[in-house]
Amino acid sequence: MLVFTTIKHLQSFLAQQNKTVALVPTMGALHLGHLSLIKQAKDLAEIVVVSIFVNKKQFNNSQDYQSYPKNLSADLALLQEQNIDVVFAPDDTEILPSSQDYFTILPAESLENCLCGKFRPKHFAGVCLIVAKLFNIVKPHFAIFGEKDFQQLTIIKQMVEYFNFDLKIIASPTVRNNNGLALSSRNALLSPNGLLVASNIYQALLQVKTNPAHLNDIAKNLLTKGFSQVEYLEIRDSQDLTLLNLNEISLNNQKQARIFIAVILENIRLIDNIAFNF
Ligand code: PAJ
Repeated sequence: MLVFTTIKHLQSFLAQQNKTVALVPTMGALHLGHLSLIKQAKDLAEIVVVSIFVNKKQFNNSQDYQSYPKNLSADLALLQEQNIDVVFAPDDTEILPSSQDYFTILPAESLENCLCGKFRPKHFAGVCLIVAKLFNIVKPHFAIFGEKDFQQLTIIKQMVEYFNFDLKIIASPTVRNNNGLALSSRNALLSPNGLLVASNIYQALLQVKTNPAHLNDIAKNLLTKGFSQVEYLEIRDSQDLTLLNLNEISLNNQKQARIFIAVILENIRLIDNIAFNF
């Protein structure tokens, strides 16, 4: 396994290969969710590049950035076991060399000002900046993103289309633990009891799916289970993320929708979503 920390060395290696490349961008603290993206990447391309970079531009809260789990040596050991070809693990100065911001990529307001974008100002601008840079650095034929971060996936698909990036975005389904909790690097910050309580997030999504009219009660009920806040529990169109109201749902008018949730538990922000086609 080759581990590159500089753009120059990574690019000169890839230029010599003349092979199809799939990129899996990550912020490390790797878990089985990341590994399922990697597996999909392996099926698609001859070379898989996994990037590990905790992008401070996408953290609107410096405390959240400081406490984000980081363990490069464990990540590299895991990737070695998976027979990964190439890891790109640059440091801050390699990717964001200037202390000044020269350019920003702002997603369309309709995608940015809802769900996580509403609660994390500038988060998606930070995500777009780093993902666009990774696309230009690696020049992959495919890039794999998880449905776990469905708003991120939607925004990146739009960015690729709008800026004519010459690659295909592949969506990968959410990997969950036995209790239904979506795997997340942030789960490592929860106490053992918090991990059990967190499985109520998926249960709430399933309850909304069977009983959308009770959405508000389902959200309130989470507050009795140990969550300090439900930032949102909403049903939105899965293409353009517009909010669907309960009347539209009862009309039975054939919609591809998703149920989205963000909660705070033990000061940790957790998100999830599931498909809801009706
Ligand atoms: P990170 O949270 O490390 O996630 C990397 C990729 O793994 C994302 O595409 C995410 O959706 C996917 N992922 C995370 N948990 C998953 C799960 N349980 N099942 C399936 N896929 C899962 O998302 C980011 O990093 C960053 O924003 C990044 C895109 C790397 C830009 O900095």
